[in-house]
Parts: sequence; C-alpha cells; structure tokens
Amino acid sequence: METAAQPLLENYQVGTLTLKNRVVMASLTRGRATNPGLVPTPLMAEYYAQRASAGLLLSEGTWVNAHAIGFINVPGIYTPEQIEGWKGVTQAVHANGGLIFSQLGHIGAASHPDFFNGQLPAGPSAINPRTRSFTPESFKDSLTPREFTAAEIKKTIQDYKQAAKNAKDAGFDGVEVHAQAGMLIPQFLSVATNQRTDEYGGSIENRARIVFEILDAVLEIWDSTRVAIKFTPVAISHVGIMTPDEETIPTFRYLLQKLSDYNLAYLHIVGPAEDLTGTPVEVLQNDYFNHFRQNYRGRLMANWGFTQESGNAILEAGLADLVSFGIPYIANPDLVERFAHHLPLAQGDQNTYYAGEEKGYVDYPRAR
Ligand SMILES: Cc1cc2nc3c(=O)[nH]c(=O)nc-3n(C[C@H](O)[C@H](O)[C@H](O)COP(=O)(O)O)c2cc1C
Repeated sequence: METAAQPLLENYQVGTLTLKNRVVMASLTRGRATNPGLVPTPLMAEYYAQRASAGLLLSEGTWVNAHAIGFINVPGIYTPEQIEGWKGVTQAVHANGGLIFSQLGHIGAASHPDFFNGQLPAGPSAINPRTRSFTPESFKDSLTPREFTAAEIKKTIQDYKQAAKNAKDAGFDGVEVHAQAGMLIPQFLSVATNQRTDEYGGSIENRARIVFEILDAVLEIWDSTRVAIKFTPVAISHVGIMTPDEETIPTFRYLLQKLSDYNLAYLHIVGPAEDLTGTPVEVLQNDYFNHFRQNYRGRLMANWGFTQESGNAILEAGLADLVSFGIPYIANPDLVERFAHHLPLAQGDQNTYYAGEEKGYVDYPRAR
C-alpha cells in the first residue's frame, strides 16, 4: 500500500482538534511514578514525548482521588504536585507536536487494603470481585470491599470533575473516562458486583446512572468534543466475576443510545480477546465493531490487537474513525513512521511492562 493510501495516516478532525493521523496510543499503565506522592516524573515526560507522532496520545490510567488507587506506582491527578508533574508531560508532548488526553480512572473494589493502611477499599456492593491487585508487596487477591454510601458516590463523581479540571490546568487536550473492564464504572454496570437497592443499582438505568453523572460532571469543565469514554462489553484478563452476562447486551444498548446524544470526542471500544461463541455476548462474535457502528451515532475508536494492516482495513471499511494501539507502542515509539515506511515492529520485554524505570521504557530505539 502506498503511504498516501493508508487511512491510518490521514489526518482527522475532532471538534477543534486536528489529529495529524488516525493512529492513537492507547493507555498503558507502566508503573513509573515511583515516588510516595505518585507524581509524574521527567522520565515519564520523555517517554510520552518520544511517542508524540501519534495522532493522539492517551495517558496511562490516572487516579482521580486517593481512594481510587489499586496498582503500584501509578500516578494520580488529584494533588497540586501531580498537576505540576503532568505539566511536564503535556509540555514535552506539545513541544514535539503531539496531542494528549488524560485517562481518568478509579479501581473501586478491585483494590486492596495494602493501599489504605489496612482499610478496605469500597465498591458498589460488598461483593468480592475476585480479581487481583498489584500492591507494593506483590500481586494479592481482592477481598470483600465496603459498600459505597450514596454520599461517597456523589463525592466520587465530584472527584472526577475536579480531576478533569486538574487535567485542564495541567495542559491536557482532553480527558478519557476509564470504564474498561475491572474498573469502578464496570463494577457498577455489572449485576455480579452491583446489588445495590438505591438509585445506583437494580435496573439498567440505575446501574448506568454513574456513567452519565460522571460525564455530566466532566462536561461542566470540558467541551464534549474533548471528552471520551473507554468501554468493553467483553472480558479481558483479571476481571474476576465481571464477565459478560445476560444483562451486558441490553446494558450496552442503553449506554450507546444515550451516549449518542453526547457528541463526545469518541467512544473507545476494546475488542474481544477470545472467541465469544457460547457466551452471553455471542451476538458480537462476527460483527463486533459494526455492532457499535450501528448502535452509536458518533466517532468510534477501535482497539485490541490491531496491526498496520487490520487498522487500515477497519478504517477503509468505515467501521471505525480512529484506531488505538497499546502493546505496539511499548517498543515502537515511532509506530507512525514505521507504518509510513512499512518497517518491521520491535517486540517489548514483558518483564518491564509495569516496572523497571528507564529500562524497557525510554530505551527502545527508533527504526531510523
Ligand atoms: C502494560 C499495559 C498496561 C495497560 N494499562 C491500561 C490503562 O492504564 N488503561 C486502559 O484503559 N487500558 C490499559 N491497557 C490496555 C490497553 O490500553 C489496550 O486496550 C490493550 O493493550 C489492547 O490493545 P493492543 O492490542 O493494541 O495492545 C494496558 C495494557 C497493557 C499491555
């Protein structure tokens, strides 16, 4: 394929932002905020700046408050020091001609008392999500969490809003709400982890309420075209009991219908890691991204296992507007240039995915 003929390399308009290509760097937790304040470091600024030729960069999942924590050395966006640290990142990315959104996350019940001086984390209900948390000591099994009070839910929503404001102050170009499998938002969506009897549990509308309350709060800070959300209706690793069930398809139908009115920057959808045959979401098996295209009116970003070839193909087929790449970005800071010149991709070292400071982080060379 000629360079000019690759849809991945075409620019793309999202509101007032011009993405110079349709290659997006997906969020990658890399565990390099190795300081007690979980402050982004100059090393992180260097890492993101190296990858600034992507049309858009997404930060690693970033904690919206101190209760949101559940994975070692992941930065936050709730203290003045963290905002200052992120300024270093956004300035470095902008200096290299890139754009970057902050991914706002909360891990809810999937955390561990190791992060809270022995206190239990909170989730939608007092139900063990049966997943694992990477604590300062080691990987540990999750426990039965505390149930969020209604007041804590309202406070958490306000914390998303404050984090969105902090992201703006730190110089980000927008925010992506992290609602991928395992996190707090899908814990509310899933009947397996949400057995609440108040307005946040029970019906689909109630389980999904927090999604829209968070978005509405964030939209008080940002124009809708600077706000995105990342979901997957299918299981990925370490999601414990939050696997797809009979409620998943109707829940997503409701979400997609309502989100269609939001004019978001994009809806980021993560594809299936495995065959869906025989699962409650089998209907998605042969038609995965088209299902979202048909049921969502707005810009769509596709993710999971894409290559240069399949990324160009899904754009060509009109089933997505943007394609995000996660693992390929670990060892290929110049992924866009490699696509442009049809150069081979390097493989990252899994031992340094989540730890290792410079090693396996900023030391992957460009192809040329
Ligand atoms: C090391 C690593 C860290 C990740 N951290 C995050 C994260 O912080 N937030 C998120 O939404 N997804 C995270 N993901 C998922 C990726 O963003 C992406 O959805 C996934 O890797 C599939 O895309 P790929 O096949 O191009 O890698 C992570 C994946 C990996 C491998």
